[in-house]
Amino acid sequence: DLARTPQGDFMRPTSGRRRSSRSANGVGVQVEDTRICVVMVGLPARGKSLIAQKLVRYLGWLSITAKCFNVGNYRRTNTPQPNASFFDFSNKEGERLRRAAAQAAVDDMCKWFKLPGNLIAILDATNSTKERRRWIKDRCDREGIETLFVESKCDDEELIMSNIREVKLTSPDYKGQDPEEAAQDFRNRIMMYERVYETLDEDESDLTYCKVIDVGAQVIINRLQDYLQSRVVYYLMNLHIKPRSIWISRHGESMFNLSGQIGGDANISDRGEMYARKLPELVKQSAGDLPLTVWTSTLKRTAQTSRFLPYEKLAWKALDELDSGVCDGLTYADIEKEYPQDFKARDADKYNYRYLGGESYRDVVIRLEPIIMELERSENILIVTHQAVLRCIYAYFMGSSQEKSPWMEVPLHCLIKLTPRAYGTQEERIHADVPAVSTWREKGSKAVHADTPESSRIGSPVLAGQGKLNVPVLKV
Ligand code: F6P
Repeated sequence: DLARTPQGDFMRPTSGRRRSSRSANGVGVQVEDTRICVVMVGLPARGKSLIAQKLVRYLGWLSITAKCFNVGNYRRTNTPQPNASFFDFSNKEGERLRRAAAQAAVDDMCKWFKLPGNLIAILDATNSTKERRRWIKDRCDREGIETLFVESKCDDEELIMSNIREVKLTSPDYKGQDPEEAAQDFRNRIMMYERVYETLDEDESDLTYCKVIDVGAQVIINRLQDYLQSRVVYYLMNLHIKPRSIWISRHGESMFNLSGQIGGDANISDRGEMYARKLPELVKQSAGDLPLTVWTSTLKRTAQTSRFLPYEKLAWKALDELDSGVCDGLTYADIEKEYPQDFKARDADKYNYRYLGGESYRDVVIRLEPIIMELERSENILIVTHQAVLRCIYAYFMGSSQEKSPWMEVPLHCLIKLTPRAYGTQEERIHADVPAVSTWREKGSKAVHADTPESSRIGSPVLAGQGKLNVPVLKV
């Protein structure tokens, strides 16, 4: 029952169940008067912060304003480096300080919700007792905020240990401490919580909740109320946290790239062909013997580029290049001459500008959502696609802003490896030493349209919208 606004945003018809219909933030998903507090529930080291952080990034990518309130950060202002006994529930002073931290986080969250357009808050804490959850629900009810409890329940020792190693031991709680002692203390902290932990159950059947067991092996959903809640839950159901990487590459240089034309369905050039022949070696060098699936668009240049890759392939229409409508087949100079107003309008707001009869970056993000969902479900994937589409996928993983992402430099003949980590995505760029034209155009200019300079073809990863860096970067 979704309709599209002229900007391509989703809009749900007014149901009568709610008071009014309003735009979430003027630009993104249109929903009714909904504000949701996603309350994380779970023992320590169950991936709650990872889930919270991913959810904020995903919603932001869809222009839904979301913010995480991490109770641990509030607690650290009064107790920066507690040991496990602080979390003993019979420790009255510890209990008082922890409650104060929760109270401060909830107060700030309620203040944040008063600002227009703020739609989804994530309360990241263990929220391990029924009493604590009821307290949050009552407060949210009074403020007119919906609650959606999300429990991560997991007994897989290996996953818990890898979470402790990767995340907890780098937490400010253990800064400067011996890793072995820190790990032991953290296990003791978990034991303290285990003594009082209450999983979501029938007693709480009036709550809206989603219980994710063993990282998605089983999901129990109770009383989902509306579209936005189901959207959040659908995303959470697709997440997994097995280690994996995603490789993205543009197609090899095309005949249209050589002539500076945009869009079309041209063949790759001789140099594009050289890249296609070199790509298997680049992938092998980066991925070793990992099993991979290759996703391409339905346009010839991506199929031609990936044809030597010895992996299973899947062509997606959703991965086709941004549709440039009436400007398809023109050069940037032609567009500036024939559609001067449009040329300016696009530079002024590249993310939202929609080509006459074509698409905007915002439109591409919306059509890429099923791709992102499928990517979240999958393991190692190599995507061979186009400049604008690649920028949108990159923005999802790196959390790049709508301002910057459409201007990001993604040279031809370069393989980008993205590895999701607990608190961000690690990026590595591997440049094939095969010359190609630059199709990048700076705001206010026509494209340079010369061969990419030698310096930017060799080595070095680059961050969106920034200068060149010379080490692999972990962007948080
Ligand atoms: O020039 C190559 C190309 O993939 C075009 O087909 C497409 O219109 C363009 O890049 C997208 O980049 P931008 O949004 O910077 O114009």
